Amino acid sequence: MDNESSAEDIVKRRSIFFRSFGIYTEVGGFYDYGPIGLRIKRNVESAWRALFPEGLGLLEVETSIVLPEIVLKASGHLATFTDPVGICSTCKTAHRLDKTLEEYYEKKGDAEGMAQVKKMKLDELASKINELGIKCNKCGGVIGSPENFNLMFKTQMGQKSTDVAYLRPETAQGIFVDFKEIYRSHGLKLPCGISQVGKVFRNEISPRQQLVRVREFTQMETEIFIDKDAKFEGFGGVDMRRVEAEKLPFIKRGTNNEVELSIKELLADGAIPNEYFAIMLYKEKELIELLGIEKGRYRFRQLEKEELPHYSMGNVDLEVKTSYGYIEVSGNAHRSDYDLSSHAKMSGKDLTVISNEKKVLPHVIEASIGVDRLLFSVIDGAAKDDGRGWKVLALKKAAAPYLCAVFPLQKDDKLIEKAKEIEGMLVANKIPAFYSDSGSIGKRYAKADEIGVPSAITIDFETLNDGMVTIRDRDTSKQVRKKIEEIFELVV
Ligand code: GLY
Repeated sequence: MDNESSAEDIVKRRSIFFRSFGIYTEVGGFYDYGPIGLRIKRNVESAWRALFPEGLGLLEVETSIVLPEIVLKASGHLATFTDPVGICSTCKTAHRLDKTLEEYYEKKGDAEGMAQVKKMKLDELASKINELGIKCNKCGGVIGSPENFNLMFKTQMGQKSTDVAYLRPETAQGIFVDFKEIYRSHGLKLPCGISQVGKVFRNEISPRQQLVRVREFTQMETEIFIDKDAKFEGFGGVDMRRVEAEKLPFIKRGTNNEVELSIKELLADGAIPNEYFAIMLYKEKELIELLGIEKGRYRFRQLEKEELPHYSMGNVDLEVKTSYGYIEVSGNAHRSDYDLSSHAKMSGKDLTVISNEKKVLPHVIEASIGVDRLLFSVIDGAAKDDGRGWKVLALKKAAAPYLCAVFPLQKDDKLIEKAKEIEGMLVANKIPAFYSDSGSIGKRYAKADEIGVPSAITIDFETLNDGMVTIRDRDTSKQVRKKIEEIFELVV
C-alpha cells in the first residue's frame, strides 16, 4: 500500500483541500477546503468540542483576529516569535535554517544530528550549515545572511500607517486579554478553562508538505486557569484514576527513545508538570483515537529546554506519524503566569482574581491543537488502495463527511422517489447522508468509498414491495438486506 500517493490522489481528485488562488498564482501556504474537506474539518472540530469545552465543562469564546501591536508586545511575540532564516547569496531564496539542517540529517538517517538541531540557536545553525557545505537547493548558491525572521503578518488599523496591527499568531492571546471579563461575568472559580477555535496566521518562510507547513490555519485551543498553590481536587468531572492508569508512548527530554509510561509515572518524575496537564494529554489521546489515529501512529514528546516557546516553562507535543514523518499536531504548554502578568503590566490593569478569599494571578496550562494538521494526519492514515481498482478513505464515523450514501439502483422514477424519501428521513434524523443517481452503481460505490462514506444504501425494485434495502459496508464490501427502519441503528 502506498499511503502517500493514495491520500494525495484522493485529496486532489475530490478537491478535499487544494491550493488557494490557484488560477492566479502558485503562492504557497494557503489552502481552501472543498465541500468534502470542510465536512471532515467540521467533524474534527465537533469531536474536539465534545471532548474539550463540552466534555470538561469549559467556556468557549470567539475573539478578534486582528490584534493591536501592544497586545503582541506584551505577549512577547513581537520580540521573539521568529524562525531562523538564511538567504541564498545567488538566487535570494530564503531558507529555514533549522529545517534545512534537519532535512540534511534526515537524509543521512542521523537521528542524533536531528535531535541536536532542535537545540541550536541562529549562529550555531548558520555555522553548521556552512561547515557541512549545505547549499541552496534551488541554485547551489551559498546560504548566508542569517536572521531571526518574525513570523507575524503585519497590517495597519485605520488610515494612519503608524497604527500597526498584526494578524494573530495564536488564538490564546484573545483568551488571556478577555480572561478577567469572562471570569467576572460568568461567576467562574479557579480552576476553570476557556477554549477557542479559530484562524491564525504565520508567515512561514518555506511553506510545504500540504497542510503541514502553512501560513493560515485553524487552531483549537484550551487554556486552563489554576491557582498554582492550591491542591488539585479534580477537574472537569474526569476520573483521575483512569487518567493516571493510561499509558502513553512518550519521549522524555534528553532522550531519543520512545517508551511506554503511565501518566502516573510521568507525573511522578515531572515529565508531566501537573494533573491539569495530564488531563489535556489524556483527552488528546482520546480525540485522535476517536478520529482513527491508532496506537503506533502517535507519540508524545517532551520538548528540550532550547525548543520551548518564549512563554513556556515546559511543553509536551503530540506527534503523529504521516507520509512526511512525525509531525506536531498539538502543543501542550505550562505557560505559568507569563501571559496574564505581561498583560497586567502592559495594560496597567489588575488581572488577579479572588480565589479562596485571596488574590491570585492564575497560572495557565494550555492545549493547542492544529485542526488542519490533525485533519491531514487522519486522511493520510485512512487512504488505502483496496485492491479492487479504486481507492478508499477508511475514515472512522467520527471523521466521515457523510455517514451513508443513498442510491437508487438505476434511474427509474419510482426508485428515485423512494431513495430521496429515505435520504430525507436520514437527514431529518440528523444523519448526514448524500444522494446520487448519476453513473453506474459500481461507480457510485467507488465514489462513496473514495470520500470515506462508511455505508451505502441501495434501493431496488424489491424495496418497493418489501420495504427492504441493501446496505453495503465500505471496508468489507459486504452487503446485507435490511428493513428501512433498521437503517438508523446500522449507520450511526
Ligand atoms: N498557543 C500556542 C501556539 O500557538 O503555538
